[in-house]
Amino acid sequence: MPQNLQDTTTLHNGVKMPWFGLGVFKVQEGSEVVESVKAALKNGYKSIDTAAVYGNEEGVGQAIKEAGVPREELFITTKVWNADQGYETTLQAFETSMDKLGLDYLDLYLIHWPVAGKYKETWKALEKLYKDGRVRAIGVSNFHVHHLKDLMADAEIKPMVNQVEYHPHLAQTEILQFCKAEGIQMEAWSPLKQGELLSEPTIVEIAEKHGKSPAQVILRWDLQNEVVTIPKSIKEHRIIQNADIFDFELTAEDMGVLNGLNKDERIGPDPDNFDF
Ligand SMILES: NC(=O)c1ccc[n+]([C@@H]2O[C@H](COP(=O)([O-])OP(=O)(O)OC[C@H]3O[C@@H](n4cnc5c(N)ncnc54)[C@H](OP(=O)(O)O)[C@@H]3O)[C@@H](O)[C@H]2O)c1
Repeated sequence: MPQNLQDTTTLHNGVKMPWFGLGVFKVQEGSEVVESVKAALKNGYKSIDTAAVYGNEEGVGQAIKEAGVPREELFITTKVWNADQGYETTLQAFETSMDKLGLDYLDLYLIHWPVAGKYKETWKALEKLYKDGRVRAIGVSNFHVHHLKDLMADAEIKPMVNQVEYHPHLAQTEILQFCKAEGIQMEAWSPLKQGELLSEPTIVEIAEKHGKSPAQVILRWDLQNEVVTIPKSIKEHRIIQNADIFDFELTAEDMGVLNGLNKDERIGPDPDNFDF
């Protein structure tokens, strides 16, 4: 189990990735994203998850510069958007993201969604970026097991990470088991179901028992299930609270109860049925 906010999981290529980070989906470009990322870095976060489509890579880059944390201590993730998928277009999209972020290497580059007929060519571009040393690890997002198997059938390099929607209402048991068996690190997006799970009575009850908040219980559940987690908040007190989950442990019974909340219910689209 990770013992603190800086603890890392080791990806299958040996690169160390923090178990915990800040997500910046729907965080506005400009002062909102700059202040959120700086608040996270000031409070010990090392990992930031953005994407080209979030439109805030410049602000993330500005915050990284202003925070003054040594680059090698940070773990920065961005993602290639669907419209840019394909070999040459992905290579170009990567350079655009790097210019916006103001970085000379990236820690993790992800295929944002499995665009049918495109993701294999996109993956070839990620493999090239990896082999050229532009990015330390490459992975995918929103890949079901069948997408992963299809990709891996032709891939030279196995994805190091699969970032998927994951929270107590969407336990993703099949993907989690497959990823664990293949040495692919699973990462949770919308771990708090964008806030919807915070008033779930069962979670509130477990939180009260431990003297913790519902958000902290959910994020601890991620870590005890060996899933990397990247909750989003633009409020410093929540950024601090969300990461304060290393001083308690959910019991086997708590874990069973939380696992039992699964309803296969999503807040986002199903990767087999998205139209963007
Ligand atoms: N790969 C993908 O397709 C994909 C899709 C979606 C998201 N993501 C990534 O995953 C990250 C997290 O997911 P998300 O942003 O969708 O949702 P989330 O982290 O599940 O929830 C964020 C929401 O919860 C609130 N919140 C955060 N901490 C809280 C706390 N301690 N108490 C009460 N409310 C709290 C936030 O409000 P405030 O900001 O007002 O605090 C915000 O409204 C994203 O930011 C993004 O980096 C990836």
